[in-house]
Amino acid sequence: MPVPHKTFYLETFGCQMNVHDSEKVIGTLVHEGYQQVETVEQADLILYNTCSIRDKAEQKVFHRLADYKKLLKQGKKFGVLGCVAQQEGEKIFERAPHVSLVCGSASYRNLPQMLAQLEAGQPTDPAPFDEASSRSPAFSPAGRGISRGAPEVLVRITGLDDRETDKCFETEFTARTNPHRGYITIIEGCDKFCSYCVVPFTRGKERSRTSDSVLAEARQMADLGYTEIQLLGQNVNSYKDSAGKRSFAELLAAVGEVPGIKRVRFTTSHPRDFGRDIIDAIDAVPTLCDHVHLPVQSGSDRVLNAMQRLYTRDQYLERIAWMKSAKRDISITSDIIVGFPGETEQDFAETLSLLEEVGYDAIFTFKYSPRPNTPSLALDDAIPDQEKSRRLEVLMAKQKEIQITRYKKYIGEVLEVMVEGRNDSRNQWIGRTSQNKTLNFTAPDTSSPKIGSYAPVRATVSFPNSLLGELVV
Ligand code: SAH
Ligand code: SF4
Ligand code: F3S
Repeated sequence: MPVPHKTFYLETFGCQMNVHDSEKVIGTLVHEGYQQVETVEQADLILYNTCSIRDKAEQKVFHRLADYKKLLKQGKKFGVLGCVAQQEGEKIFERAPHVSLVCGSASYRNLPQMLAQLEAGQPTDPAPFDEASSRSPAFSPAGRGISRGAPEVLVRITGLDDRETDKCFETEFTARTNPHRGYITIIEGCDKFCSYCVVPFTRGKERSRTSDSVLAEARQMADLGYTEIQLLGQNVNSYKDSAGKRSFAELLAAVGEVPGIKRVRFTTSHPRDFGRDIIDAIDAVPTLCDHVHLPVQSGSDRVLNAMQRLYTRDQYLERIAWMKSAKRDISITSDIIVGFPGETEQDFAETLSLLEEVGYDAIFTFKYSPRPNTPSLALDDAIPDQEKSRRLEVLMAKQKEIQITRYKKYIGEVLEVMVEGRNDSRNQWIGRTSQNKTLNFTAPDTSSPKIGSYAPVRATVSFPNSLLGELVV
């Protein structure tokens, strides 16, 4: 009799690192004989890959777990992966007793053994666990922390990576969702310890892959037909080839020279480690996209110092000046936090003036959220939420003005886009430029651009966040 497939549902929260981790987890599970399904109702195993960067992100997973708790009665199992798993560890079993698997990102290599334990419903010998990356390979026997009347959870499995692990999770079974552009992780973890940030606690210390293994993955992707690669890391330009062969800029250039690769992006860069050689590489290698995401967080030296960002406004602006002297017009984007403890009106005004001085193409804005373990948790989070919201709105309004001007200047220009999809209701194609701008376009009925192909488009209309144009035929 054929063995029925074990099914799993996976929902991902958080950054691109998590999205890509999920692709690796899906690949691993499929290799273990699981089948991915689209709804929790269809699944035997329900997994959440979680984010804890701000409190709201963390709460999402507990809401989801509460929503679906009733499904435990049908024999479904629940697992929490990612940054909340690493941060909260076994405390998750107390808050959500129907969870039976908690696994941080550096323990994904142990997932096959953990899944076997979960299916067996009883502990197996913990020996197969990788000691170096599993601080707590143990299971908890039945009953602990289960509220009276709740269905019994037979086994609880915890894989919490050690902050000191020096291994990256690499797998040959990555299930990439897009056939044209894909991520490659080059560095994991972060050693910067900005005073507000959980990442060093959830992702562990910095560890880089060898540039040879990154290049091998890039070549493999090119052979499969990928044309765009995005190199990922919490801090890509702290990359240190563990074999000592290539700097980050040299790795960028080498990936850009892989035959078949037409676009290379990288995110996220930290201003402290951002060298001029990255701009030289962008100048020298046309496949490196003319876009840099360089989060500033604040325009005030006082706040930058309290955030322990390790650079001043002037040093940040020096890096911006390098970008502006590049051969191509480099699009610059950033992240900004408002309402950090002690941020005065004057500090905030300095962030607004920095926005104008740089002329960003886009910014991601956040209200400060106090996070567990972080140094700034000890500071008084005294700025009321309403005031944080006000600053956010002022910031976004200023940025909108800047973007209206930035986007207008492309009108009349012909830009190359990767065709990403089709919007039938508008009779438009969806395109993305090398600068990472959305450029939607119309095309004559006789020419039907292929998804994943590249096409020249003349921009005709500009909006604050996108452009509209016509295919050049
Ligand atoms: N490594 C990147 C950032 C990763 S987190 C860097 O150093 O820039 C993504 C963004 O989330 C950060 O840039 C920051 O703007 C925001 N963020 C991080 N912690 C936060 C917190 N406690 N409250 C609000 N925003 C936060
Ligand atoms: Fe967080 Fe700072 Fe590291 Fe970025 S550099 S991940 S903000 S600690
Ligand atoms: Fe969130 Fe973890 Fe990414 S905290 S932003 S998923 S590294």
